[in-house]
Amino acid sequence: MLELKNVSAGYGPLQILWGISLKVDTGEFVSLVGPNGVGKTTCLKTIAGMIKITEGEILFNGIDISNMYVPDITKQGLSFVTEGGCLFAGMTVHENLRLGAYILKDKKQIAELEGFVFSLFPRLAEREKQLAGTLSGGERKMLSIARGLMSAPKILLVDEPSLGLAPNLVDDVFDTLVTLNKEQGLTIFLVEQNVHTTLEITDRTYVIEQGRICLQGKSGDLLNNDHVKSCYLGLT
Ligand SMILES: Nc1ncnc2c1ncn2[C@@H]1O[C@H](COP(=O)(O)OP(=O)(O)OP(=O)(O)O)[C@@H](O)[C@H]1O
Ligand SMILES: [Mg+2]
Repeated sequence: MLELKNVSAGYGPLQILWGISLKVDTGEFVSLVGPNGVGKTTCLKTIAGMIKITEGEILFNGIDISNMYVPDITKQGLSFVTEGGCLFAGMTVHENLRLGAYILKDKKQIAELEGFVFSLFPRLAEREKQLAGTLSGGERKMLSIARGLMSAPKILLVDEPSLGLAPNLVDDVFDTLVTLNKEQGLTIFLVEQNVHTTLEITDRTYVIEQGRICLQGKSGDLLNNDHVKSCYLGLT
């Protein structure tokens, strides 16, 4: 479904990603983990079309989306839930959700999607008319994921959904992602710092260090990998 072939990218003269190759197949739940500042968010932004690539190509369902405009990539079926959520604080939950569906024209489909995300996050349904800026941190996280789903994506890219959440809310967010993947068949590419849980819930994982993929494999196998154990799981 999604394939990066030898992708390099960065910010102006500052190169961050060095020849990244990775693949996410239809229906898979794949993650990208690594230390701070190594290029995880940059990788997601590059896939979503927010950063130009300098080398390589990005294929999405066989179509070269490298350097396509963001709305065109969204129309192909790719949705990116950013770390901060990028919500419009002065707009209501309902209005933020409608913005997530900006590429869709069919009103019935939009209403159905809204019904679906409200069934996934009943707390949002209760707060439909509340301004996004007044939601709690956990509710904002739910809204950012819900808004990402409103474009009816084939793949959801999610950047650090657990960041800043209390442990019980982290579990809720991970449970939601697992439900979306297992029950709705949604393909997910997740960036996370919570490596242990990520390895438990995903199918495959790539480890990125200094802008390069240094390790990859089935998530369950990586739980027993010595490098992963010592560097990411605090085990010696
Ligand atoms: N807009 C920008 N302009 C210049 N440099 C940037 C920009 N955004 C990020 N960087 C730099 O690119 C590098 C990689 O950043 P990135 O956000 O991709 O890291 P990350 O792996 O997501 O880190 P974290 O785990 O802390 O979120 C960092 O050194 C960062 O300072
Ligand atoms: Mg990041």
